[in-house]
Amino acid sequence: MEQQLTLVLLDSPKGAKIVEDTCYPSSSSSSSVTSSSSTDRRHRTFVKFFVYLSLIALAYYFIISSFAVSPISPDTSSSANGSSEKCDLFTGDWVPDPSGPLYTNLSCHHIQDFQNCLLNGRPDVNYLFWRWKPRDCDLPRFSPSQFLDSVKNKWWAFIGDSIARNHVQSFICILSQVEEVEEIYHDKEFRSKIWRFPSHNFTLSVIWSPFLVKSETPNNSDIQLYLDQLDHKWTVQYSKFDYVVISGGKWFLKTTIFHENNNITGCHYCQGIDNLTDLGYDYSYRKTLNLLRDFVLNSTHKPLVLFRTTTPDHFENGEWNTGGYCNRTMPFKEGEAKMKTVDDVMRDVELEVFQKFGKGFGLGSNIRLLDTTGMSLLRPDGHPGPYRHPNPFAGVKDKSHVQNDCLHWCLPGPIDSWNDVMVEAMLNRERELYNLIGLK
Ligand SMILES: *[C@@H]1O[C@H](CO)[C@@H](O)[C@H](O)[C@H]1NC(C)=O
Ligand SMILES: *[C@@H]1O[C@H](CO)[C@@H](O)[C@H](O)[C@H]1NC(C)=O
Ligand SMILES: *[C@@H]1O[C@H](CO)[C@@H](O)[C@H](O)[C@H]1NC(C)=O
Ligand SMILES: *[C@@H]1O[C@H](CO)[C@@H](O)[C@H](O)[C@H]1NC(C)=O
Ligand SMILES: *[C@@H]1O[C@H](CO)[C@@H](O)[C@H](O)[C@H]1NC(C)=O
Ligand SMILES: *[C@@H]1O[C@H](CO)[C@@H](O)[C@H](O)[C@H]1NC(C)=O
Ligand SMILES: *[C@@H]1O[C@H](CO)[C@@H](O)[C@H](O)[C@H]1NC(C)=O
Ligand SMILES: *[C@@H]1O[C@H](CO)[C@@H](O)[C@H](O)[C@H]1NC(C)=O
Repeated sequence: MEQQLTLVLLDSPKGAKIVEDTCYPSSSSSSSVTSSSSTDRRHRTFVKFFVYLSLIALAYYFIISSFAVSPISPDTSSSANGSSEKCDLFTGDWVPDPSGPLYTNLSCHHIQDFQNCLLNGRPDVNYLFWRWKPRDCDLPRFSPSQFLDSVKNKWWAFIGDSIARNHVQSFICILSQVEEVEEIYHDKEFRSKIWRFPSHNFTLSVIWSPFLVKSETPNNSDIQLYLDQLDHKWTVQYSKFDYVVISGGKWFLKTTIFHENNNITGCHYCQGIDNLTDLGYDYSYRKTLNLLRDFVLNSTHKPLVLFRTTTPDHFENGEWNTGGYCNRTMPFKEGEAKMKTVDDVMRDVELEVFQKFGKGFGLGSNIRLLDTTGMSLLRPDGHPGPYRHPNPFAGVKDKSHVQNDCLHWCLPGPIDSWNDVMVEAMLNRERELYNLIGLK
């Protein structure tokens, strides 16, 4: 059933455990300290030396590259002038990029195992060598060093589900090439976290709130959604943030009971429970986004808020639980890709709620769309597929029985480009403001 599409993939506490194992260099290094044979020590000295050399090389690389990118090409001058109106960042094509990703499974320690396609032995690597090119301008890969310099003392939050986590891991992988992060908080399930880039005092949060509104799951029964109350988990922290990237989506497809004004008003996919009216996931999604938009507009605190649009999955010849897979190795060309109904419906709701805020950050509002749906739709080649863990086919007779993930994204991978458009959209807005009030 399409509606129940992603439940297993979205809900993997095992994933949270694995995050713990892979993302904590501090715990693994403390265990290595306890072993103290001389070969180990020599090995560590060598590693230190190697790291030291790499850092020098890296510093050199960034000094060179920051000189290399600074002259603004005619194509990018529109953004340098602070007007993103001229270029729609979200309409474009994937173009070959022989330079490849800014990080690998070796240089980034923040990739969750389920998305670590290189580690898990995905054999093809062509999917790493593409860059998003908006049709009307050029969008260079954002420079992590310039970016970190521009967000000193700021706090940036990602709010949403496992795709938001996927996104923040990509962001951290890019930024950690300049400065390694310190994790300063995680919740019990390792789903919400806070990191800091110490020398820039830049703080980054990811907040687990898959419905964005208040939700309860009493005694493992159906999920109760309170469509007139936002999830306090993120609203109580909102006033700390300077930048917010917020998203919702696939969780709304689950069986859910709707509450409004202390009354049960309907449900989605509830198959006749208590004779409730099935109002559909578009109802709950629309209510949620309207509530979110009003909260942002009414709040006296004014961070820059990007609402990221729905992310399409690419299961073919079946769904996640019926042998669907995604083994393409090339991006789609425009027109080749067809969006599934679920994503169409969600994106329509998103456009309906947010599009009035225009393509650019309207000067009057602090909210806009990060419309990554179209660019993502063109990348059926960017998912882990069966490579959710090493040797997925070991001991398996029938390959079609291996669970595929055609929803989350390999890291490195296409969603690294989400950060290029995200940073461009955010910094454009800053430039507009500076121009407007005459600061520089
Ligand atoms: C950007 O501004 C400069 C000078 O302020 C101007 O010469 C140039 O034409 C502008 N470019 C665009 C694309 O508006
Ligand atoms: C990184 O990926 C390569 C294959 O591309 C693999 O051989 C290696 O073990 C991986 N290393 C880590 C630390 O993930
Ligand atoms: C560091 O950043 C935080 C949050 O953005 C801010 O509250 C704090 O004042 C900053 N610290 C310094 C020393 O500037
Ligand atoms: C959950 O289970 C407990 C114990 O079985 C019961 O007391 C409680 O009323 C249940 N809550 C709901 C909301 O059904
Ligand atoms: C509660 O919701 C139902 C529809 O599910 C509606 O018929 C009823 O009038 C509502 N009651 C109140 C008190 O709002
Ligand atoms: C659901 O509707 C049927 C038919 O109208 C009725 O017989 C039944 O009692 C209702 N169930 C509940 C839980 O209201
Ligand atoms: C919030 O803003 C909306 C319009 O955007 C308005 O209709 C609503 O009454 C406001 N709510 C509060 C609590 O101010
Ligand atoms: C993808 O898998 C299908 C079914 O196993 C196969 O027919 C097809 O050739 C594969 N495509 C690629 C690009 O490997």
